[in-house]
Amino acid sequence: MEVYNHDLVILGTGLAGLRAALEAAQQSKGELDIALVSKLQLMRAHSVAAEGGTAAVMRQDEGDSYELHAWDTVKGSDFLADQNVVDFFVHDSPREILHLDHWGIPWSRMEDGRIAQRPFGGHTFPRAVFAADKTGFLEMQTLYDTLMKHTKNINRYDEGFVTSILIENNRFAGLTMIDMINGRQVLIRGKALIIAAGGAGQIFGFTTYSETVTGDGLAMSYRAGLALKDMEFIQFHPTGLIPSGILMTEACRGEGGTLLNSNGERFMGNYAPSKMELAPRDMVSRSEMTEIEAGRGFPGPEGLDFIHLDLRHLGRDKILERLPLIREVTIKHIGLDPIEKPIPIRPVAHYTMGGVHTDIKGHTAVENVWAAGEVACVSLHGANRLGANSTAECLVWGRVVGEEAARYCANASAAEMPKDAEQEWAKIDALFQSKGGEDHYQIRKELRKNLDATMGVFRTGGQMQAGLNKIRELKERYKFISLKDKSLRYNTDLERAIETGFMIDVAEVATLGALTRTESRGGHARRDYNLRDDENWLKHTMAHFTSGGPRLDYSPVDISMWKPVERKY
Ligand code: FUM
Repeated sequence: MEVYNHDLVILGTGLAGLRAALEAAQQSKGELDIALVSKLQLMRAHSVAAEGGTAAVMRQDEGDSYELHAWDTVKGSDFLADQNVVDFFVHDSPREILHLDHWGIPWSRMEDGRIAQRPFGGHTFPRAVFAADKTGFLEMQTLYDTLMKHTKNINRYDEGFVTSILIENNRFAGLTMIDMINGRQVLIRGKALIIAAGGAGQIFGFTTYSETVTGDGLAMSYRAGLALKDMEFIQFHPTGLIPSGILMTEACRGEGGTLLNSNGERFMGNYAPSKMELAPRDMVSRSEMTEIEAGRGFPGPEGLDFIHLDLRHLGRDKILERLPLIREVTIKHIGLDPIEKPIPIRPVAHYTMGGVHTDIKGHTAVENVWAAGEVACVSLHGANRLGANSTAECLVWGRVVGEEAARYCANASAAEMPKDAEQEWAKIDALFQSKGGEDHYQIRKELRKNLDATMGVFRTGGQMQAGLNKIRELKERYKFISLKDKSLRYNTDLERAIETGFMIDVAEVATLGALTRTESRGGHARRDYNLRDDENWLKHTMAHFTSGGPRLDYSPVDISMWKPVERKY
């Protein structure tokens, strides 16, 4: 085993990870020795796929306000967001927009040169700052370029597949990592760890997420003893392209696109008359599924019946200026030009509202561990996230945890050499030796199909119980997997096998949390309990790892600003 020592270790190089690295480097004037660890090449983190925008209050002179952004977020969350967290967020996100502006991002602009903003679902003011429909990519590029000024003490571990987070005596003690290039077993040690490893979209078959988003950071944190919070709340984005699930950004509707059923009706008037297509995502997705299930959709491949997203009336110029990526993707993937034809879409798994439990500063229960971005649950989004609040969250809490962890490192020493690293390598060696008859690719396929069938836009207790039973069957079968590829160089067979184990754990936590929560709230819509139940369920679910499966308990929600009311749009 090779051992590398650093001050600050950052797991994940998406928006939150890069923003954290930049803040820590700047705070320490480049003195902090930072490790940036990613299973991908740095700029391939899934954040580059964020399209539509980043929410921030930039126009107080025209009627927007922090209070309005906070209220939209809390109402959108179906009152499960922690309101003190929301309040902090809305005040901080405009600063992040300006930081990026100063670092050179090409924000889309208005005629008079001011930063442009577009409407987004659930926001009562056009609040999404954007760079055409490539916002995440350009944010990543800008952070990366700026980080390059600090190369002296930034150590990159690209294509370093982390298999476990070692926490011993309640302190981060190291990451076990396989260097994909040559298969070497590496231990990365540091005084502090920031977990910024993204979500788990791949547990679903029909998803906007790239193949790489397999919940590794969530599962490793959970196995290491950190609680996962509110994992039952999965966001279905209303517009996933048929048949791949590629994101058709909400900006399509923000720019004026409409949703049409097979009768050509703009059906959202029946569900959310004041907001129409720009109601929050949970509502639009439920409305679409209701139309499809009532037979007002179009028949699609493999059960993926769909409706239409119509951009034609926006006109060629607007589509080319504001939605060039959407046009490029639909032409390349399905041979359809949205200037001429409506786009076939349906709800698609897009985001995990839950994640590693942190406090308002992104601090976990472990002294030298922070988490930020989609992997974390600081409780900003509650039961349903508003569009454009996610990239903003990554920037805001990337900065916060970068600052906090850098300050901690200035006075800390590294933890003791971990004892458990050898156990992790023994597990991986056993996988190489295994002659078991189970195929981990097949297990992954069955897991994803199962989640699609049982944890979708609408849920029932019976379906979720069947889903949980299936997950537990897969967990058992997973013990008997083996590898076809026994080599060391770029062993993606090994990587996929370990990822599938992570996915099973995340799926089990999400499904158990959902089955246990006997109410409907935000992205968790149960047909057998179709009302919100504040008396019994205005609380966060916390899932703790045990060898027999997740143990659940609950924690209170901060409602210091507004009492929950009925949610109407
Ligand atoms: O629709 C989108 O562009 C996605 C944005 C988001 O998830 O915040």
